[in-house]
Amino acid sequence: MKICVMPGDGIGREIVVQALRVLDKVAATYGKKFETEEALIGGCAIDATGSPLPEATVRLCKAADAVLLGAVGGPKWDAIDPAIRPERGLLGIRKELGLFANLRPASLFPELKHACFLRPDIVERGIDLLVVRELTGGAYFGTPKGVEVRDGERVGFNNMIYSEHEISRIAKVGFEAARKRRKQLCSVDKANVLDVSRLWREVVIEVSQDYPDVELSHMYVDNAAMQLVRDPSQFDVIVTENLFGDILSDEASVITGSIGMLPSASLGAGNPGLFEPIHGSAPDIAGQNKANPLATILSVAMLLRYSSTEKTGDMTAVAAAIEGAVQKTLSQGYRTGDIREPGCKLVGCVEMADAVLANL
Ligand code: IPM
Ligand code: MG
Repeated sequence: MKICVMPGDGIGREIVVQALRVLDKVAATYGKKFETEEALIGGCAIDATGSPLPEATVRLCKAADAVLLGAVGGPKWDAIDPAIRPERGLLGIRKELGLFANLRPASLFPELKHACFLRPDIVERGIDLLVVRELTGGAYFGTPKGVEVRDGERVGFNNMIYSEHEISRIAKVGFEAARKRRKQLCSVDKANVLDVSRLWREVVIEVSQDYPDVELSHMYVDNAAMQLVRDPSQFDVIVTENLFGDILSDEASVITGSIGMLPSASLGAGNPGLFEPIHGSAPDIAGQNKANPLATILSVAMLLRYSSTEKTGDMTAVAAAIEGAVQKTLSQGYRTGDIREPGCKLVGCVEMADAVLANL
């Protein structure tokens, strides 16, 4: 399997290094072969080439079977021209690879119950949900967009726009995912206000005809934000548009108490998928061996699960082995600073990965 590796900025490099050690161990243990090639994205790419997404990076990603990403961005590039901000690199590669489906699982590791921000009686009901976020449409990419002067004052605008085919293909991903889980799909929109949401709901209902075995519900986004903290156990799969999904997936992750634990997959039709932790580049702790590498290690598991081809053979078992090793490491009491608790074995990024490797 050919993997394009993009460490990016901040803690990106240190967490990706640890994830690659896991990949090496998988290769040695399971007789798999991974060819990795590194590419620049985000702030480091701006420094080296002037662009957050150099041509060479796009080429390497397209030639790979999968892409592993650390994180992009940092204060160093905050004042830069918005057109070449580090985040542009990430948005650009999503678009270039047609990665319209972003899967963000948020589940509570029983070992990390204490880290959960919610009341114990709510936590007791469990959190195990999947946000399926549309990733290449909506206000993120819609035109017209910009800031201009009209009647003597500045006006800023974006366009939340979706065509039917964009809605139906992400709805299908949502239904398929629900089918493999508890068969409940909640489509989140703002159909009481937005025209684009009214179409969203109509199309999702049309697609649901093909999935009679999946129970479909609809929720307005403001209510969904509230229900996520009031009782997250009610959700199985949530499908929603780009901006709502950006917001709700951060909320869904942090209620598990462990944004440093959660992986994500961005998938398109036929293109290599992109796998990354959902957390950011955490410049405040970069280079101090403090970052939690588990989200990136779990992203490797997702990578193997979703990028298996005829060439590579089914890697589901390997993915499960990595996830099992992470869980065992937690049950042994190893914790990085973000998930520390009294009496735990507080470790750094490298030592956390050491423990996972020993358990793999
Ligand atoms: C995410 C991030 C990105 C987004 C940023 C960094 C462009 O917040 O992956 O959720 O808004 O999609
Ligand atoms: Mg986000």
